[in-house]
Amino acid sequence: MIATLDISVERVAQSRLPETDFNNLGFGKYFSDHMLVIDYVDGAWQEPKIMPYGPLSFNPSLIALHYGQAIFEGMKAYRTATGEVQIFRPWENAKRLNRSAVRMCMPEIPEELFMQGLTTLLQIDDAWVPTQDGSTLYIRPYMFGTDEILGVRPSDTYKFIIFTSPVGSYYTAPVKVKIETHFTRAVEGGIGSAKAAGNYAASLYPFKLAKEEGYDQIIWTDGKEHKHIEESGTMNLMFAIGNKIITATLGDSVLDGITRKSVLQLAREWGYEVEERKVSVLEIVEALEAGKLTEAFGVGTAATIAPIAAIGYAGKNYEVPTFREDGFALRVKKYLIDLCKGTETDTFDWIFQVPKA
Ligand code: COI
Repeated sequence: MIATLDISVERVAQSRLPETDFNNLGFGKYFSDHMLVIDYVDGAWQEPKIMPYGPLSFNPSLIALHYGQAIFEGMKAYRTATGEVQIFRPWENAKRLNRSAVRMCMPEIPEELFMQGLTTLLQIDDAWVPTQDGSTLYIRPYMFGTDEILGVRPSDTYKFIIFTSPVGSYYTAPVKVKIETHFTRAVEGGIGSAKAAGNYAASLYPFKLAKEEGYDQIIWTDGKEHKHIEESGTMNLMFAIGNKIITATLGDSVLDGITRKSVLQLAREWGYEVEERKVSVLEIVEALEAGKLTEAFGVGTAATIAPIAAIGYAGKNYEVPTFREDGFALRVKKYLIDLCKGTETDTFDWIFQVPKA
């Protein structure tokens, strides 16, 4: 890490902690007291500021609002039994944010700046990291163009912000997913591998329709033929068939998930056969019909390891066993939580422990 940066800090006059029900957090219902803000002006990142979480003011012509030049990340901070705060692979989020930035014609942010801003914010809002089992502090870094313009061109100025939110589970029960064969999330050459705000906006309408049919999420298929499985709305997807863990290969249209790659690494370490390749819808449906698909689950920061209870395709609904005692999903979920909570040894150097202030 570089020498400690100057980060100006303005603290809240009154914390909102007393109004926060840590036993009933939901997801994204509460926001912590402070946020980190770093402006990009004249071709350089300016001095980071930590200030009370609250409204920002802009003119209506702000580029991010009408042309969508905006990207984001998601991480979680865990409280260990000894009171430390730990984050899973935050360097990977900094790197992915920068890959998204390149694709969206935005400036990259130095990893040290990202890490030091994050560290100071978490030191200041330490008390917001939940102690309750199953609860974490969700961390949302994001960047958006702030030029006030009408012509379509990249912004010259940007804001990088990190705010945080104490959360419970994103999915409170095994999810029912529908294989989407009409709408498309991303295509080759598009922005699907970037964590761009617009990818999530584009998913809202198909997601609304799927919800009306009784599903919790969509399984996106390739944009050309809708024959291959890509990812779900908030997570990458994995399937277990016998000793094989199968997932869609990365490309322009699939998000390079940090949980995804960690889970695949663990599967290989534990002796599973891992197949990263094109996964056809028909293959999954046939495995479901033959009772060979033993597990299906989503993997992501917000979702963690989310078992899939049912898959809908072509008007049929297939049930999937969830969290089998002898299964991979339950084992990997427990391992990752134990690692983040400090009860499993960090053999891969995946954990960042926030130093005490
Ligand atoms: C995450 O898993 O952290 C994400 O960014 C997905 C989000 C849409 C909830």
